[in-house]
This record gives sequence, structure tokens and C-alpha cells, in this order.
Amino acid sequence: MEQQVLLDKLSEFLMVEQGGLQLYRVAAARCTLPTLKERYEEFGQQTARHREVYVQLIQALGGDPNYVSPMARLAQVKATKLIESTMIVDGLASEEVMANDLENVLLAETKCHLDWELMSQLAEQATDAKLKQAVQKAVQEVEDQEDQHVEWARQTLSQMALQMVLEGPAPSPERWIKVTSGAIPPIDAQHPAPVTTGLEKLAQAPAWGLTPIARDMQRKTA
Ligand SMILES: [Fe+2]
Repeated sequence: MEQQVLLDKLSEFLMVEQGGLQLYRVAAARCTLPTLKERYEEFGQQTARHREVYVQLIQALGGDPNYVSPMARLAQVKATKLIESTMIVDGLASEEVMANDLENVLLAETKCHLDWELMSQLAEQATDAKLKQAVQKAVQEVEDQEDQHVEWARQTLSQMALQMVLEGPAPSPERWIKVTSGAIPPIDAQHPAPVTTGLEKLAQAPAWGLTPIARDMQRKTA
């Protein structure tokens, strides 16, 4: 295993924890259900510790925790987009805002959980004794908490969504006033392929054709 490949991965995993922590902060700050808020704060603190564990591991392996690998940059973009979604709350009921916050936490924790699964496999398969010991120590501290985080988010969101459908009140009329008063731009301004015309054309494109960026690059080099 190349040291740099591992350090790139760890940089990405560190960024995922960082994004998760921000999402916990947003969710906890505006959650109006005390038990949920408490959980966000508890898991947010644990996530902050998981971030530290990655920092210590990177240092123990001779890397620089401030280095941002290309995949870490992508992880940062994804987290930023999730955080952006928490700000588009115009016209949403407070339950919908809370469900969106929890969904973001679940998405972040799903990736985080996968990362720690990989770490656990790495601890089993690493042949370098120093690396094996360092990864094992990190996994021992974090893995159970990660299992708990993702399972809790999955179950709680599922219960919340069901409850909203079965017992939730009808949305207030103001929500539609807000939507139609121009506060939210029309769909074709928000989406490059509006549902009315865009999908039909896309549906006829070959399933595994080149992406628009690749087509553009091909045109430029032709
Ligand atoms: Fe996590």
C-alpha cells in the first residue's frame, strides 16, 4: 500500500467528519424537540472527537492534517451543498425543516460509517505493524459510536417521516403564498433541465453516453 494513497483517503475521511460536525451544529441549533436536540449535541461532540482521532492518526503516520486531498475537496463540496440545503427553508413547516436537517445528518453519517468500516478492514489486513496498531486503536474507540449514529438517524428519520404523513397538519396557506409570490425563482431558473421539456430529451440519450463536460473537452481537442 502506498503511503500517499492512505494519507489521501484519511484526508477525505477527516473532511467527511468535519462536514458531519457542521450539519450536527445546524440541526441542534434550530431543533425544537429537546430529546432530538440532546442527541444532536451528544453525537456532534462525538463527531468532533472522531475528527481529532483522524488528525492524530494522520500525524502518527507522518502526514500533515492540513493537507487537503482531491477527494477531500469533493467531500467538502458535498458537505457544503448539504449545508446550503439547510438555508432554503422558505415556505417549509418547522417539521419539514427538522426532517431535512435529520436527513442531511443521515446522509453524512452513512458515508462516515462506510469510512470506518473501511478503517476496520484496514486494521485487519494491514501488514505494517505500526500502521495496524494505530488504525486498530482508532477503530476501537470510534466504530461502535459510528454504528449508533447511523442507526439512530435512520430509525428516527423513518419514524419522523411516518408521523408527519399520518398525523401532520395540513401546511399553512402562507407557504403557498410564499412560493407563488416570487420568493422562490421559477423551476427553469433553478434547474438547468426543467421537468417540462428537459427530461424527454435526456431520456433519449444513450444510457452510458459521454457527460456534457467530456463531450465539450472532446470538441475542444478535435
Ligand atoms: Fe460520524
